[in-house]
Amino acid sequence: MDRFVIDGGRPLRGTIRISGAKNAALPILIATLLTDEPCLLENVPTKLRDIRLTIRVLEAIGKCVDVSGSRVFVHADKPLKTRAPYDLVKQMRASVLVAGPLLARFGWVRVPIPGGCAIGVRPIDIHIKGFEDLGARRVLEQGDLILDSPLRPGRVRFKFPSVGATENLMMAAAAVAGTTVIVNAAREPEIEDLGSFLAAMGARVSGAGTSTVTIRGSRTLRGAKHSVIPDRIETGTYMLAAAATQGSLRLAGAEPAHLKALIAKMRAAGAAVREGRGRIAVSMKGRPRPVSVVTAPHPGFPTDLQAPWMAWMSLAQGSSRIREEVFENRFMHAAELSRMGARIALSGETASVHGVPGLSGAPIMASDLRAGAALLVAALAAPGRTTVQRVYHIDRGYERIEAKLRAAGARIRRVRR
Ligand code: EPZ
Repeated sequence: MDRFVIDGGRPLRGTIRISGAKNAALPILIATLLTDEPCLLENVPTKLRDIRLTIRVLEAIGKCVDVSGSRVFVHADKPLKTRAPYDLVKQMRASVLVAGPLLARFGWVRVPIPGGCAIGVRPIDIHIKGFEDLGARRVLEQGDLILDSPLRPGRVRFKFPSVGATENLMMAAAAVAGTTVIVNAAREPEIEDLGSFLAAMGARVSGAGTSTVTIRGSRTLRGAKHSVIPDRIETGTYMLAAAATQGSLRLAGAEPAHLKALIAKMRAAGAAVREGRGRIAVSMKGRPRPVSVVTAPHPGFPTDLQAPWMAWMSLAQGSSRIREEVFENRFMHAAELSRMGARIALSGETASVHGVPGLSGAPIMASDLRAGAALLVAALAAPGRTTVQRVYHIDRGYERIEAKLRAAGARIRRVRR
């Protein structure tokens, strides 16, 4: 288990190039299961652990995958299997997304039900209800979900705009002849990106990125080429790191339109944020004003930036509140930030953050991906030495993070064990 050693208290300066979005690349890689023809994906963050795992899932199902830099070529020379292996699904919940494409194509699929994780119980009932609305029957066997019977087009209404369920149902609908409508769909930019890829494969997709997605599917989808959108959560994390260290950073290859909620809140807290075509620049002097946030599905304040936001607000000139409305257990970083001198009180879904003039270095531990990102933001801002344990969580979602931060002036090194 690697750890990061950070000597903090130095402003970040310069330019960081943003990678392709992990959470867009995952479903798009899985959508290649919808065709036997070759697909070429570009701007894929191939160094991420979650992307490597997704490639292993595709290979276990029967695809051949060639990686070259950030390009991924997916093809097949043998029939696909309709089972996803438990040892991979348990390592990455998003593997459950193979259910939609495989069920739609082959009329039968078996996937292990992913367990909960550090941020919540994370059931998949919305996915299952969606498949049932399109005619699937389900059986539970040995902890695996078996879905069978051919899907028919139809109307699906989600009780909550789940990102994963929207992606799973969009992929299924793309391979079912006829028109399927998904109501109360998630509106995240990653959904729009998946919609573009499915359209390039030959499905007719409208409304991806709005709350009603309509898909006219086809039994025979073709291979396609696609370039993945930039990672808005990686961008947001570096924006907050720039502000927390009172530095000045340019994020190259970023998409400001995907980060409106964060940009508005950062400006309210006193950061200077400049938006350009394919770039964002952030600079900050002094401590932020306290600004409260409530997380919500897109276009609300992203739950994935709640933890790094808390790290910045720990340094505010006053008290703010953070309400986590998407996941039920996403405050694990609060206790670790407290070890660095932050004053945070938790009550149910609300964190009250009482700003302090400065944090100080301490040995701390990442409990999940974005909690880990928050600890890095705090560590970069805090004078003294911080050691962050369990870096493998951070490696799931931030490509070459120590190299990118070092190029911006951070003193960070990875200690391998
Ligand atoms: C996606 O997870 C992202 N993961 C998450 O990013 C992100 O935090 C989340 O969307 C919300 O934006 C990927 O894209 C791979 P949901 P997903 O289904 O699809 C409940 C990161 O750090 N729910 O929208 O799992 C669920 O328990 C990760 O990069 C049900 O109740 O999110 C949660 O409370 C973490 N039943 C809420 O909805 C269901 O069937 C949102 O989940 C599905 C979800």
